[in-house]
Amino acid sequence: MTMGETFPTPDLSHLTAEDYEHVYEPAEDTFLLMDALEKDADFLRSIAPSFCLEVGCGSGAVITFLGSILGSRPHYLCTDLNPRAAQCAAMTGKQNNVYVQPVLTDLASALLPRLQNKVDVMIFNPPYVVTPTEEVGSRGIEASWAGGVKGREVMDRFFPLVPKLLSEKGAFYLVTIEQNDVEEIGSKMRTFGFTMDKIMSRKAGPEKLTILRFCPCKRTM
Ligand SMILES: C[S@@+](CC[C@H](N)C(=O)[O-])C[C@H]1O[C@@H](n2cnc3c(N)ncnc32)[C@H](O)[C@@H]1O
Repeated sequence: MTMGETFPTPDLSHLTAEDYEHVYEPAEDTFLLMDALEKDADFLRSIAPSFCLEVGCGSGAVITFLGSILGSRPHYLCTDLNPRAAQCAAMTGKQNNVYVQPVLTDLASALLPRLQNKVDVMIFNPPYVVTPTEEVGSRGIEASWAGGVKGREVMDRFFPLVPKLLSEKGAFYLVTIEQNDVEEIGSKMRTFGFTMDKIMSRKAGPEKLTILRFCPCKRTM
């Protein structure tokens, strides 16, 4: 990448206000994640990914944006448990000439063992808002934000899957807020064999967002 290269924000003009009643509309967290991927474009290209996976794709804006950075060589897969999100993500890929394959599943469970240690770039903008536990686990729009205790209930279930999915050269990007306890997430992921870097932070209203990147400990950057 040449210094300061930028990539187009995906065209989302095919999505309607009615879609956004059911599917998460890209917001500051989405755009900060895209900024972090753009900042890491050189690194992402250097690992020459074969498989890219976004967990909890919503509109599909982020996996499509990754497609504009990495081009047509990798496979772009994404998951959501909201059927309408899976449909929107497929449409967003198509609208932007990126072939995105959505899978309707909890986290990435339907992709194992097929993708065992094959995913080179993995992304998750999880439901991270602190809410009562009872609000976690819907298949509708509430699943976009309801994170339960410390906003961690959904992402904590995903962490043990990271060493199963990520390839040796892979990287995993995660959106967090301060209340999620970033340092504790770092310790937890260390026990699974990953180093953590804070790629970008931004204040967005009441939220202090941070994008984390995890890589296998044995890899030297
Ligand atoms: C904060 S939204 C992010 C949407 C999109 N990735 C973005 O950045 O704009 C979280 C997404 O995760 C999905 N989600 C929540 N829990 C999930 C689970 N257990 N498995 C798969 N997807 C889930 C929600 O339906 C929602 O689309």
